[in-house]
Amino acid sequence: MRLAFLVQRFNPENDPHSRTQAYRLDVGRGTTVLDALIRIKNECDGSLAVRYSCRSAICGSCAMDINGSEKLACRASVRKEWERHGRVAVAPLRNLPVIKDLVVDMSSFWGKIRDVAPWLSPTAQQSTHAKMSPHTLPPGSYEFHNVDACIMCGACVAACTVHEVSKGFLGPAALAKANRFLADPREPVEAKRHRLAVLEQDHGIWDCTRCNFCVEVCPKDVQPMEAIIRLRRSALDAGLASTGGARHITGFTELIRQHGRLNEALMPLKIVGFNLPRLSQVLPLGLAMLRKGKVPNPLAPAISGIARVRAIFATTSRKKDAG
Ligand code: SF4
Ligand code: SF4
Ligand code: FES
Repeated sequence: MRLAFLVQRFNPENDPHSRTQAYRLDVGRGTTVLDALIRIKNECDGSLAVRYSCRSAICGSCAMDINGSEKLACRASVRKEWERHGRVAVAPLRNLPVIKDLVVDMSSFWGKIRDVAPWLSPTAQQSTHAKMSPHTLPPGSYEFHNVDACIMCGACVAACTVHEVSKGFLGPAALAKANRFLADPREPVEAKRHRLAVLEQDHGIWDCTRCNFCVEVCPKDVQPMEAIIRLRRSALDAGLASTGGARHITGFTELIRQHGRLNEALMPLKIVGFNLPRLSQVLPLGLAMLRKGKVPNPLAPAISGIARVRAIFATTSRKKDAG
């Protein structure tokens, strides 16, 4: 069948803006988007920049935006894209600077991977002279939850809603990588605590909004958001509970345990405490909510079924103690 491919073109050295260029190509049933792009480059327009290597969903280098969603071009079927969207439109990954056409600059991506120290640290100070546990992992001694399947394609970072507005956010891929090393039993407890103390800072684990986009687009089912949730749990279990994000979770939980429901009037106190300058920052929002009738009575009694809610908390806490 003869199809039109809409390819976003942009050369920052010459072009003021990106533009869409259409190419027509005869393609067979099993053609992937990457096959088509390579043919466009070879047969229609040698100036098109596209990055790839393995052509087998292994190296991660061909991730791009295909019909509005981040995918590996070597795994995306032209026929399926056409049937689902009635077109095949490709663009570079979002949230990363474009080098040319479909090729993005991954420097910030790799910088963030390095920032989470993706190696085993013998001690909190990362001394290379300290004693490590044995280098091999006995079967059944670890559970990496598939985070070690990451191929570093960058699709999750391109889809991340926080990364879109906060370029400093460590991001889903780096945090998933951090979770892999936190789960490694060869690393001593104090090194893990040091790792978590770094990750709980600004731009770390508490910045994720749990939008789930990283999970949806990941071609290897790494589920970065779940890894971030595990990191948050580990931080709380390690007693790292003083950041705004941690206090939000513990305060939220405490309110449910005490009253059986969330009380937005009390949440700011749970998060920032009696810190007047910080409370004054949320005051305008609180007043706007009050005007809209969104602030409940802070002295409202607990819900009628509170005993059952507390019984759930007691059960989970017993299970935690036992496990
Ligand atoms: S769940 Fe968190 S890390 Fe994943 S895309 Fe959303 S904000 Fe980003
Ligand atoms: S977590 Fe998934 S989407 Fe993100 S870089 Fe790794 S393989 Fe790609
Ligand atoms: S070319 Fe290697 S993952 Fe697509």
